[in-house]
Amino acid sequence: MAAQPFREGEIVLLLDRAQNRRLVRLRAGAKAHGHKGYLEHDRIIGEPEGTVARASSGATYLVFRPRLSEYALEMPRKSAIVYPKDVGIILVWADIYPGATVVESGLGSGSLTLALLRAVGPTGQVIVYEQRADMIGPALANVRGFALPGEVPDGEAGPSNLIVRERDVYEGIEESDVDRLVLDLPEPWRVLPHALDCLRPGGVVACYSPSIVQVQRTVEELEASGGFGQIESLEVLYRPWHVKGQAVRPVQQMVSHTAFLTFARRLAGRGHRPGEEAPKDEEDETLAPHEAAPVAPEDGESDGSAPGATG
Ligand SMILES: C[S@@+](CC[C@H](N)C(=O)[O-])C[C@H]1O[C@@H](n2cnc3c(N)ncnc32)[C@H](O)[C@@H]1O
Repeated sequence: MAAQPFREGEIVLLLDRAQNRRLVRLRAGAKAHGHKGYLEHDRIIGEPEGTVARASSGATYLVFRPRLSEYALEMPRKSAIVYPKDVGIILVWADIYPGATVVESGLGSGSLTLALLRAVGPTGQVIVYEQRADMIGPALANVRGFALPGEVPDGEAGPSNLIVRERDVYEGIEESDVDRLVLDLPEPWRVLPHALDCLRPGGVVACYSPSIVQVQRTVEELEASGGFGQIESLEVLYRPWHVKGQAVRPVQQMVSHTAFLTFARRLAGRGHRPGEEAPKDEEDETLAPHEAAPVAPEDGESDGSAPGATG
């Protein structure tokens, strides 16, 4: 994509010398006020991305188009959001691909929805179940407020690949043949009976849960349903480093915990709802990753593990 100068209406990211972030929508003649004086938007409009702009006090700011992660961290919130470190793993572990049909719940502030929309692209679809009407307007405003680099966000029209259903997802999911189901709500296990019906064989369910007690219940119910395999729970630790002269070390403050992630895949033609008896042929032969039998190396071939490594 050819480099384009900043245009009026775009949202830009201002970074001061201490790397403090601020998002500003460019308006001709407007000023961004801060404790370091004000910065005239006209000094940015027409300039290339990565420009250094000077405020009235002489302080300088780097000006970029925000990355999606920076936009999500700075946009207004009515709920906790999924943080970028977890969004990245969700997209890869749940294998969200262009053209996929994804059901998500709940909408919250729209952080995860924004990333899912980008990953499925214009040929895919994201259908979000959100039970609280008062969450939907602000979240949609966040979604509409983001645009591709160089584009001016359309504050009116939502993306054509997004459907929001104002509904309690515990009561059911109307879609079928869904490729991916992504859950960030208090009791994800209550959605699993519907996941059996809506997910296609091989489809992935991903659950974001702040408490390990939620993870335990979710995994137990995934296993008990007999309809899922390749069940995996994990957490993502993100530790930025400070690199300045001889001071090369991890930063002293970091986000210590956000949530745990659980992933599982829908098996073909299997599964039963809570209270139903497991069919006779549904013996528990599904191996969780840590129980999977190791693949023996061919004769004379190294298995690649370090000497003495176990597991
Ligand atoms: C933590 S927020 C989700 C944040 C979102 N993932 C983000 O990144 O911005 C949880 C949302 O789930 C919604 N929710 C909770 N239970 C629900 C249910 N049974 N059906 C639909 N939505 C539900 C809540 O109203 C809330 O908006």
